[in-house]
Amino acid sequence: MNMHESPSRTILAPSTVAQFSALAGVPLVKPGDDLAEIILAALTASNEKLRNDDVLIIAQKIVSKAQNRLVRLDTVIPSPEAERLAHDVNKDARLVELIMSESTETVRYRRDVLVVAHRLGFVIANAGVDQSNVEQGASDDVALLLPEDPDATCASLRETLRARTGASVGVIINDSHGRAFRNGTVGVAIGASGVAALADLRGAPDLFGRKLHSTEVAIADEIASAASLLMGQAGEGRPIVLARGLATARGDRTAADLVRPKAIDLFRPASLEETLKRRRSIRRYTAAPIRETAIMRLIEAAITAPSAHNRQPWRFVLLKDAAKTRLAQAMAERLREDRTRDGHDPIIIDQDTARSITRITSAPAAILVCLSMEDMDVYLDRRRAAAERQMAVQSTAMAMQNILLAAHAEGLGASIMCAPLFCADTVRDVLSLPAAWEPQALITLGYPANSGRPYRRHPIQDVVRIVDV
Ligand SMILES: Cc1cc2nc3c(=O)[nH]c(=O)nc-3n(C[C@H](O)[C@H](O)[C@H](O)COP(=O)(O)O)c2cc1C
Repeated sequence: MNMHESPSRTILAPSTVAQFSALAGVPLVKPGDDLAEIILAALTASNEKLRNDDVLIIAQKIVSKAQNRLVRLDTVIPSPEAERLAHDVNKDARLVELIMSESTETVRYRRDVLVVAHRLGFVIANAGVDQSNVEQGASDDVALLLPEDPDATCASLRETLRARTGASVGVIINDSHGRAFRNGTVGVAIGASGVAALADLRGAPDLFGRKLHSTEVAIADEIASAASLLMGQAGEGRPIVLARGLATARGDRTAADLVRPKAIDLFRPASLEETLKRRRSIRRYTAAPIRETAIMRLIEAAITAPSAHNRQPWRFVLLKDAAKTRLAQAMAERLREDRTRDGHDPIIIDQDTARSITRITSAPAAILVCLSMEDMDVYLDRRRAAAERQMAVQSTAMAMQNILLAAHAEGLGASIMCAPLFCADTVRDVLSLPAAWEPQALITLGYPANSGRPYRRHPIQDVVRIVDV
């Protein structure tokens, strides 16, 4: 592979020999130091000259220090949230505040461990905020953050080195990361330029000519790991490694390509809070069909809902295409009758009925949710009979909410339509439902064609009353 091939389709012919050497003569790096200058001096001190296709691997620490990513903890004021989390993870609240300010999400934590999604996308312990190998002030309170934009730093170093030496090299910034499922840290690339950071082998033949279907190789991480062996982890002071013989690993992808998007990460399910907050009513869908097994999973989720006396009064009707269309048309007719009786403008009625039909027929799937009073208690007085019915309605609504949330968690869009409530008899007739099944709502389903309307809720203080008398 050479640099001119498409970044998205890299066919790799690995080298048979590569050489990694830690450069000598790297001083303790200070804020404001010129890294290109330091690299060139270290090359000279090591009797090396840069050649085309060399790859330089640079330890994150010296990049962060050169970029003055040092923060004195006594300048940090922890938020109440940082204080709480610091207590749970047994860390300095100021450190936790820094970690939170460098991250977008707390992924996991327990005492002594805090794993977050860094703003650059990596899932990493402590957002990479570190106090080791950092010159401390008197009170041992200096922390070092990851570089601002490691991919951009690599690209600019590469340009400067090319301008100064004429050699086209790859540059990687490496850092030690722990991994879920495996003990021990390894060197990974947090910045890359001029390397096939993620090589796509899909479509390449294996030993026996079979096409590889899903193989992508994190080349930049592999190079970063190899370099870590020479850099060491503690006080070795060898933060720059020159790799030679990796011409086939050249390319033009970045470390950002190594971050798996959360949405397709099987091991990062959204938190309950995220699921609740991010679910929106989705009313427009792509044409992609939904498998019946996926719909059955939604109904499985529905029936985990709590219900009054655990009588589970919910009933579900899965509507196939023909049934969906017949139902849509029949409900639209009833809507037309009601609106005509209300004296509305016939043109508006035409538009509204047409929209109602399209909303249902254009949804790849729909579930009609009904309730049945068959198993509920029977009361002879109206007050208690009404309360019992209300409990059945509440229980069925909880099942519907589960469907909406489960759909969202599966990447599906869903929305409730209350139309069946307004013409329950028609719905029951059109779908030949048992007499006891009382239509409550239609849930339309499909893969989202938009992200729904913006989240809008009344302020919590407007809907809560705290009573203590
Ligand atoms: C009982 C109930 C009935 C609803 N009926 C309809 C409906 O007939 N048509 C519609 O477009 N949305 C309907 N919705 C969706 C609401 O408009 C939506 O939940 C609300 O605007 C809040 O938006 P969100 O779900 O995106 O947070 C209904 C929601 C509920 C809970």
